Amino acid sequence: MSIFNLSVKSYNELPEEQDAYIFGLFSDQGIPSEFKESHPNLAQQIELALDNGEFKAKLNQTLVLYSANCKIAKRFIAIGLGDSSKYTADFLRQVSATAAKNIIDLKITALTIEFMGEKYLNIEDAQALAEGLVLGSYRFLNYKKSEDEYTGIETVTVLSDSDIAPALNYGMSVSAGVALARDLGNHPSNIATPTYLADTAETIAKTGNMKLTVYEREDFEKMGFGGVQGVAQGSDVPPKFIIMEYMGGGDDAKTLGLVGKGLTFDSGGISIKPSAGMDEMKFDMLGGAAVLGIMSVVADIKPNLNIIAVVPATENMNGGEAYKPGDILTAYNGKTIEILNTDAEGRLILADGLAYITDKFELDGLVDFATLTGAVVVALGHRYSGIMTNNQDFADQLITVGEKSQDRVWQMPLDDEYAEDIKSKIADIKNTGAGREAGTIAAGAFLREFVKEGTAWCHVDIAGSGWLKKGRPYHPEGPTGAGVRLIMELIKSWE
Ligand code: BES
Ligand code: MG
Ligand code: ZN
Repeated sequence: MSIFNLSVKSYNELPEEQDAYIFGLFSDQGIPSEFKESHPNLAQQIELALDNGEFKAKLNQTLVLYSANCKIAKRFIAIGLGDSSKYTADFLRQVSATAAKNIIDLKITALTIEFMGEKYLNIEDAQALAEGLVLGSYRFLNYKKSEDEYTGIETVTVLSDSDIAPALNYGMSVSAGVALARDLGNHPSNIATPTYLADTAETIAKTGNMKLTVYEREDFEKMGFGGVQGVAQGSDVPPKFIIMEYMGGGDDAKTLGLVGKGLTFDSGGISIKPSAGMDEMKFDMLGGAAVLGIMSVVADIKPNLNIIAVVPATENMNGGEAYKPGDILTAYNGKTIEILNTDAEGRLILADGLAYITDKFELDGLVDFATLTGAVVVALGHRYSGIMTNNQDFADQLITVGEKSQDRVWQMPLDDEYAEDIKSKIADIKNTGAGREAGTIAAGAFLREFVKEGTAWCHVDIAGSGWLKKGRPYHPEGPTGAGVRLIMELIKSWE
């Protein structure tokens, strides 16, 4: 992952001969008069394109222009900002991502950005702009040999007369966390093993002054981690139970708990998955990746509160000792679980994570992230994560910060009666629900059994939002890093 140099300059500080000059235009406002005065030639070209309808300044629409007598830059790229009445900061996140992608396609290393002819970008816009640049220029090239010497964007200059540098830097830091989560997802399961996740946690813990504890397979029995132990039995790759403690707020500050599913490869186990698309199950650790991404931003910006993170990490495989349908496991809180499908493994490792974190820590809120159910993809597609809760106020907070960050969540019901769907005849509960009905909610109802009474908790199912087959402006195809921007916005609102 490479992140460029970002600086803010005022209009009169800009040297001539920039590689590329990006500017945004609303579809309903024409060309700003200032621009017309300073770049008459370019303005004329854009006017022509607008008049004949080839360029309408629709959101993310681009027009590359060259002008012999404009000394400011070698090329100008006009990008549509869409309808000004619909404008939100996310438009800017998208448009700056589109800008970054265009620059990469042109193999240019430096760009200058001006948006809407505005001299004063507000803080929220500036953060979104930085996020769009980093997230839109994200590429994962670690395993592909290339003759190409071009290595991506190196310098970005944002034109503004206001003090937006802190907001830009904050946006850069948050998106670096998103990029880390994406990288962890993109690495294949033979590289991004549970040990790799634990090593990543160690690096983060060192920079962020966090306490790190990692439990190994040998510890699971005495710790009572029967869920992770059961799932890990079928794999020779060492599982890890990772705990990070960030105490940035001291004793009186609020404490946030995070749990992430770190399932580095889900074959389905004995209830094996079909082979088509099974490669995508390297992404089954994206919940854990989101948590590590968040902790890496925390290590960087050091917020004024306490955060505990738990990532149970293992493969779900079919080795000789693999757990089997009909087996009964005992989770950390003593509840017994009848296994009816070894492919419903995520909830088993999360059970230990949730029970452990709520037993050991006094939390003001707990969020878990998991690529948990295929059913959530059917329900919500790839745009929203599905959330379930035992505390409506806490869910409302997540919905609000989801809108704000555009890392969106949609709530599903979790009434007590859903507990019926997970009743087992011979154990406390079973790991499947009512057949094909409400599969996402059954998983939520299952997890609720492991959250200690009184802890406000939200479960976030990112099986749909976690990765994309078709990219969007600031989400290239592949892992999105869902959850990182969401929780960073929550942390901001808690500080
Ligand atoms: N990791 C999968 C969920 C998943 C499926 C994520 C497709 C993304 C895309 C999870 O472990 C799983 O297999 N869930 C089962 C549960 C079922 C057996 C009750 C599912 O959703 O089919
Ligand atoms: Mg599974
Ligand atoms: Zn899974």
